[in-house]
Amino acid sequence: MDQTLRQPQAIELEDVHVTLPSRAGAVAILRGIDLDVSLGEAVAVIGPSGSGKSTLLMVTAGLERATSGRVAVAGKDLGTLDEDGLARLRANKIGIVFQSFHLVPTMTAIENVALPMEFLGKDDAMDAARDALEEVGLSHRTTHFPGQLSGGEQQRVAIARALSTRPTLILADEPTGNLDLSTGALVMDLLFTLKERTGATLLLITHDRELATRCDRIVSVADGRIVDDGAPVSASAS
Ligand SMILES: Nc1ncnc2c1ncn2[C@@H]1O[C@H](COP(=O)(O)OP(=O)(O)O)[C@@H](O)[C@H]1O
Ligand SMILES: [Mg+2]
Repeated sequence: MDQTLRQPQAIELEDVHVTLPSRAGAVAILRGIDLDVSLGEAVAVIGPSGSGKSTLLMVTAGLERATSGRVAVAGKDLGTLDEDGLARLRANKIGIVFQSFHLVPTMTAIENVALPMEFLGKDDAMDAARDALEEVGLSHRTTHFPGQLSGGEQQRVAIARALSTRPTLILADEPTGNLDLSTGALVMDLLFTLKERTGATLLLITHDRELATRCDRIVSVADGRIVDDGAPVSASAS
């Protein structure tokens, strides 16, 4: 098919390397990652601790620069953008959910959710933040500070914040890693529901194989490389 007629992929990684300096010399953290994720797809990334999963997410978000190779999000080559350009692309297109929530402790739930919309200059940021909190079932927690919320509630605030700008790409790094099993399951149901409702693409890093099978594809990372990439095989089907 003619390349020019093809819709851009949500994510394109081409031979991406990340090499970081360390006391012991340069450390190769990503060693030639090739990954295409199409629009609306849900892709799980699994692999042992230290294999490079978080670094993969960080280069996709433009929070870490690739040492070499090509990273494109929604057809935009991140290598062509300066820090402002990257921040703008993130604000417009990407919602990120971290294991440790990353809420601003001195801001209330609603202020945390409004933050990315205010960055984009939306004048109805607080109203939209209220709607976003309602969507995650936290209408009764708008003026609470992160420290006054449970882990599950904090992660729901973080999800509301990540999705309030209606990003086309959701990046989630072990979003249930700090939650107990049942709270984690509720948070993931919510994330998948919102992903479906908005038609966003999802890249989900998880330790949880069961959770990974809810995605369209599972990518296995080991030692900075992709070692497996395919449709999930559920235990009952095999
Ligand atoms: N800033 C850094 N400097 C040096 N090494 C790093 C840095 N960040 C991560 N690493 C190393 O890179 C490897 C991959 O890290 P990471 O992407 O966090 O893996 P994962 O998320 O799969 O556990 C680990 O060995 C980690 O210690
Ligand atoms: Mg990690």
